[in-house]
Amino acid sequence: MKEIKIAPSILGIDYGRMNEHLKELEPFSDWFHVDVMDGNFVPNLSIGAMVVSKIKTDIPLDCHLMINNPHRYVEDFAKAGAFLITIHAEASRHLPEDIIKIKDLGCRAGVSINPDTSVDTISKVLPMVDLVLIMSVNPGFGGQKFMPEVLEKVKWLREHFPDLDIQIDGGINDETAPLAIEAGANVLVAGSYILKNEDPAEAVNKLRNSTK
Ligand code: DX5
Ligand code: ZN
Repeated sequence: MKEIKIAPSILGIDYGRMNEHLKELEPFSDWFHVDVMDGNFVPNLSIGAMVVSKIKTDIPLDCHLMINNPHRYVEDFAKAGAFLITIHAEASRHLPEDIIKIKDLGCRAGVSINPDTSVDTISKVLPMVDLVLIMSVNPGFGGQKFMPEVLEKVKWLREHFPDLDIQIDGGINDETAPLAIEAGANVLVAGSYILKNEDPAEAVNKLRNSTK
C-alpha cells in the first residue's frame, strides 16, 4: 500500500496571519492544499498566485486550480512556488496540452474530476499525470458532506494504476478517511476537520492512522 499523505486545505486559515498560521500546521502536514477558485468554474472566489507567492514554508504546495482555462495561469502558480498543480478536466479545453505545460514548467501535474464526472473523461491523460484528484464534494466550498459514491472511481483507479497518487478532497474526517483509504486513496485533503479541531495535530494523526 502507498504511504498515506495528509494535505490540510488552507482555504479556512487566518489569512491575516497566513505564514504564522501555516507554521503551526507545518509539523504534521505533508503538503499544503491550496484551493484556488475563480468565481466562474466554481461559485466562489479565493486566493490567486499573488498570495501563493507570499507563502513562506518548506512544505510542498499542492495547488488545486478550480478555474476555467487553467493554461492561462499555470505559469503564475509555478513561479509562485507550486510543487504540484492540479487542473480540472471539466475546465480545460486541451487537457493533454495543459498537462504537458505543467510538466514543462517543472511541476508535478494532477488532474481532477468532479463527483458527476466519470473516469473515462480523463483516460487519455491517465498515463501522463502524477496524481488524480477525485472530488468527494462539488467544489467551491469547505465544510460539505462527503459523497461516498465517488469511491467507486477511486477503487477503479487503484486497481488499474497501483503506483498513482490518488487524492481525495471534500468532507474528509475520521469517519470518511477510512473509507477513502480502503478504496485506495493515498493523499487525503482535509479542511474543516483539521482547522476546526481543538487539536489539529491529533486530528491529522487520526486521519493518517485511520483504518476501518
Ligand atoms: C472544495 C475544496 C476543498 C475544501 C475541503 O472545493 O477543493 O479542498 O477546502 O474542505 P473540507 O475538508 O472542509 O470539505
Ligand atoms: Zn481542494
